[in-house]
Amino acid sequence: MSDSRPRKRDHIEFCLTDKSQRGDPGFANYRLIPEAFPELAMDDISLERPFLGRTLSFPFIIASMTGGTGDKKGWNRQLAIAAQNQRVALALGSMRSAVLHPEIARDFDIRAEAPDIPIAGNIGAWQLRDPDFRKRLIDLAAQLQLDGMFVHVNPAQELVQPEGERNFSGALDAVIEFIDEIPLPVFLKGVGCGVTTTHLAPLIQSGLEGLDTAGLGGTHFPTVEASRNGADLATAEALQDWGVPTSEMVASARQFLDTLPDIGRRPTLIGSGGIRTALDIALVLALGADFASSAQPLLKAASKGSTAIENVLASWRDGLKSLCLLTGCRVPLELRTRLRRRG
Ligand SMILES: Cc1cc2nc3c(=O)[nH]c(=O)nc-3n(C[C@H](O)[C@H](O)[C@H](O)COP(=O)(O)O)c2cc1C
Repeated sequence: MSDSRPRKRDHIEFCLTDKSQRGDPGFANYRLIPEAFPELAMDDISLERPFLGRTLSFPFIIASMTGGTGDKKGWNRQLAIAAQNQRVALALGSMRSAVLHPEIARDFDIRAEAPDIPIAGNIGAWQLRDPDFRKRLIDLAAQLQLDGMFVHVNPAQELVQPEGERNFSGALDAVIEFIDEIPLPVFLKGVGCGVTTTHLAPLIQSGLEGLDTAGLGGTHFPTVEASRNGADLATAEALQDWGVPTSEMVASARQFLDTLPDIGRRPTLIGSGGIRTALDIALVLALGADFASSAQPLLKAASKGSTAIENVLASWRDGLKSLCLLTGCRVPLELRTRLRRRG
C-alpha cells in the first residue's frame, strides 16, 4: 500500500484554506422562533447529553480529521486535550495506514490525554472488504481504548484521487460483517457530500449505532482532492457541487429514522457538514440531529494551539445555551418544536 502520510498532510494544508469549502448546507432556509417570555433562568437549561457511555457538556463531536500525518504538530493530541477540557467527543481520522504501520498508530494513541471523553476511530468502508484488515483494525481499536468506530463512505473523493479506489462492490456486506465482529458501536458517515438513507434499514437491523450525515456545505472532498498533483480534474469539475446539503440530509434522515419499525433502541443521528456557528448547531439539532459535529473550524483553531480549539468549543456551547433560552427550551431536544422554514 502507498504511504498515505503526504496525502494526509496535503489535505490538512488545503483544508486550512477556504478553497476547500463548497456548496450551501441550507441552514439559511430555516429560523428558530424566539420566545418573548422564556420563563427560564440560564441555570434551568441543561445541554449535557450522554454519548458512548460518557456525558458530554453539550451535544457535540469533533469530526474525524487527522492522525497518520507523521508530522510533529500533534494535531490529535491538541484536539484530544481540548475535547477533554471541554467535555466533547472526538472522532479520529482514518486509521487505514495505522493498521498497517505501527509507527503511524502512535499518532492515534491519545487516551492518556483524554481519559474521560468518548473517542471514536474511523475507517473507509472499502478497506473492510479484507477480513484480515478487519481483524487488525479491531485489535488496534482495543489497544487504543476506543469507544466507537465511524465507517466513512467517500466514492466521490476516491474517483478524483489518482491512487483512489475504483471498485466499490462488496462493501455493504463487509460493513455488516464488521458491525457483527467489532465489540464497539459503529456509525456510518460521509465526508462532506452526505450519506443517503437507502441502505440504512439493513445496516440498522444488523446493529449499526447511527448515521453521521457529513453533508454538502462545508469541506468538500472532491474539491480537496482536486488540489493535489495528478488529480482527475475532469471528474472533479463534474463533481463541483456533488452531494446532498446538510440541512436536507438531516431532515430526511430524521424522518426516515422516525418511521423505522421499533427495534428496541433509538439509532443516533449526527448532523455535520458546514457547521460553523452556534446557530448552525442549534438548527441542525432542531432539524432532528441528536448531536452536531464539525471539522474544519477546529482544524483552523488547532493550527493556533489547543487553547484556541477550547475557545471555539466554549463559545459554541455558550451560544447554544443562549439560543435555548431565547427559544424557551430547557434542553436542546425541545429546539425541534421551535423550527420554521423561511418564506
Ligand atoms: C483535514 C481533514 C481530514 C479529514 N479526514 C477524514 C478522515 O480521515 N475520515 C473521515 O471520515 N472524514 C475525514 N474528514 C471529513 C470530516 O470529518 C467532515 O466530514 C467534513 O470535513 C465535513 O465537515 P466540515 O464541513 O465541518 O469540515 C476530514 C476533514 C478534514 C478537514
